[in-house]
Amino acid sequence: MPSVSISGTDLNYVDEGRGPVLLLVHGFPLDHTMWQYQIADLKDEMRVIAPDLRGFGMSGVTAGTVTMAQMADDLAGLLDALRISEPVYFCGLSMGGYVAWQFIERHRKRLAGVILCDTRAVADTPKEKETRLETAEKVVKEGPGFIAEAMPKRLFAERAHQEQAKLVQETREVIRRTAPEGIAAAARGMAARPDVSGKLGGMEIPALVIVGSEDAISKAEEMRTIAEELPISMFVEIPGAGHMSPLEAPDVVNRAISDFVSRMSSQPPEMELEEDDEE
Ligand code: MLT
Repeated sequence: MPSVSISGTDLNYVDEGRGPVLLLVHGFPLDHTMWQYQIADLKDEMRVIAPDLRGFGMSGVTAGTVTMAQMADDLAGLLDALRISEPVYFCGLSMGGYVAWQFIERHRKRLAGVILCDTRAVADTPKEKETRLETAEKVVKEGPGFIAEAMPKRLFAERAHQEQAKLVQETREVIRRTAPEGIAAAARGMAARPDVSGKLGGMEIPALVIVGSEDAISKAEEMRTIAEELPISMFVEIPGAGHMSPLEAPDVVNRAISDFVSRMSSQPPEMELEEDDEE
């Protein structure tokens, strides 16, 4: 995998295909391989870029706290390094969606559209924050084994556990080999993330909202509300899929992304971009 040096760390990424740019941003505590079916299928019609975020996969690790804003700025830096100045389609799953909100706030002019998969707009509750900070402490002391054991139960729908056991196991292995300090830094960053639910109505950006009907982490009803509040949005609920909808139901997800990108690329909605809305 190629890598570039951004703000003191190396970011590794996959870059395949030609056409409109699709930036695929993984969830926690995973890496770019969660997009394996999107990379394989969509590279025939677009340029697919799938990085490992700071602290994950083969990318460099920053100890302490890595905020969602830092990750958004890393991705803008990656686009700069690749000399991509055209507006891109930012597709983020869960934590990748938390990064998407920050990217919209900080780099909106770089976006042609956003694809929000299985994510949330609200911040953590005090109890959720506390649990995240405890997880951060524990993973540094004990390593990621306990997360690798527990988390896939919530990531995948029951059907995937029965019918896609290999994928579940591969995901467990990804978590097991992730750097403990990287997991801890992102967990602290997620605990500190802002609530953007009150800002959705002002996000004048074409959005595709995708959720698995069985998602136990970002519930379908919550995502439907996000889609209703975003001014320009489409909503796709995938029956039977869980939180990892791009891995569990790749055909449906790929079709939705492909339709959205081709529609927005050929007929972008008219939008007023304000002069002072970037950085
Ligand atoms: C993810 O899939 O990125 C995580 O479930 C996000 C979270 O823990 O809030």
